[in-house]
Amino acid sequence: MKLVNPAILSRRDFLRNSAIGSTAAFAALMLPTWQTAAQSAGVHINPLKIPPLDKGRMENGVTVYDLKLQQGAADFFDQIKTPTLGINGSYLGPTLRMRAGNKVRLNVRNAIGETTTLHWHGFHIPAKMDGGPHQPVQNGETWSPEFEVKQKAASFWYHSHQLHETANHVWRGLAGMIIVDDEEGDALALPRDYGVDDIPLVLQDRSFSQDGRMDYNASRPDIMMGKVGNVPMTNGTVAPYFEAKSKLIRLRILNGSNANTYNLAFDDGRAFFQIGTDGGLLEAPFKTSNIILSPAERAEIIVDVSGGKNIVLTSRGVSGGMGMMGGGMMGGMMGNRGSSRYNFLEIRPAPSLNASAELPAKLTTIDWINPESATNTRRFIMNMTMGPLMMLGFGNSHTINDRAMKMRRIDEVVKLGTTEIWEIGNTSPLPHPFHVHDVQFQILDRNGRKPHPGERGLKDTVLVNQGENVRIIARFQDFSDPDRPYMYHCHILEHEDAGMMGQFTVV
Ligand code: C2O
Ligand code: CU
Ligand code: CU
Repeated sequence: MKLVNPAILSRRDFLRNSAIGSTAAFAALMLPTWQTAAQSAGVHINPLKIPPLDKGRMENGVTVYDLKLQQGAADFFDQIKTPTLGINGSYLGPTLRMRAGNKVRLNVRNAIGETTTLHWHGFHIPAKMDGGPHQPVQNGETWSPEFEVKQKAASFWYHSHQLHETANHVWRGLAGMIIVDDEEGDALALPRDYGVDDIPLVLQDRSFSQDGRMDYNASRPDIMMGKVGNVPMTNGTVAPYFEAKSKLIRLRILNGSNANTYNLAFDDGRAFFQIGTDGGLLEAPFKTSNIILSPAERAEIIVDVSGGKNIVLTSRGVSGGMGMMGGGMMGGMMGNRGSSRYNFLEIRPAPSLNASAELPAKLTTIDWINPESATNTRRFIMNMTMGPLMMLGFGNSHTINDRAMKMRRIDEVVKLGTTEIWEIGNTSPLPHPFHVHDVQFQILDRNGRKPHPGERGLKDTVLVNQGENVRIIARFQDFSDPDRPYMYHCHILEHEDAGMMGQFTVV
């Protein structure tokens, strides 16, 4: 008889229980129980995978990256092969390192067996290079967008964006991180040794069937609420640990989940410093002990791991948002979505830690946009049709301004070179992370109140809670194209796929 998961079996908690034999019965037990085990017993058995760093190669002044989108078989669990999608690997993709001001070309070769796209989330680039639903790459073909990196030093990401298939393709693995460096960032005394004291963390939750498959299928409630899994994964590693060798560790955290908002904190409640948002550094480090990150949002943090004990980066679930939804049909359907506790990463400090430089008091200067300079205000209302008809599959269930996404309809036309305020409302019973392509925006206010200190930076995604009105401001510069739109959408991928997306051109 074959052991299903010797790594887990060899753990004390399991080994002690000899009643659990090394039989197929264990296989049935293993997948559903292991998350509970990882949580209650604090089992962290796998070294954290660090995505390979790809700095590209120089070709006539252009930095070139080769990305092959492919089918894979991942080793999430010992002796189980999970069919997946990946980029130059079996699950997720390499971390692309880019320099501000450089020209880059990405050769995106699609070999997944179906049409998909690859989008550069957070990048200010021409619409035809964006990799959204209007740049499909057929299976067997290669798409080679080229653009100048106009971002500030920050952590971005790339992921599939095929119309109606984004949730499916991202769930199965088509995503990766991008780190942009610039001179200002280089001059700061921040941890920058990739994989050593500067760690990318792609946080996701997935669910598996008994035989270890993580095929994508979305039920009606999944489409309503967004698909949430019960197994936390970090860089595609289940139950990961990381051995820290330096006192200060920089974590570049991406919420790469399909639908889950994480409330991240360390299990001992220790404080840490947030240093960056989606599109850049904060002006100064912000001391906090938790960060709420909705799908697609990023935060860079610095944590002091000294003190001799292991700490666990945990999501405690968000109260107030989803938690506020009491009984009724919605409450029943919600189950504990959004309120699960996930242990994402155990950090084990080495017995003797390398010293780290003091955190700089000032990180960057943000060019705050004066609201008076806006020449136009647009309003967007995210909504979901709930009633029984929707449950049976009728009607436009997920909308922005009462319309579901249509490829041939341009919803908004923005004048090149202007500054606009976008007011985003949410009349549905769920929070939605609103994402805008093309720009890094600034949050003016939430229901008239100043944004949280951790949001006072460059953003491309903002969580809009039920009944909230969030005002953002952005300049629409550099690129115009009357024919090819950019997208704005809810980044709960099931919602995006179900229509909570619109299109704007800049002309
Ligand atoms: Cu992260 Cu429209 O995408
Ligand atoms: Cu995007
Ligand atoms: Cu949504």
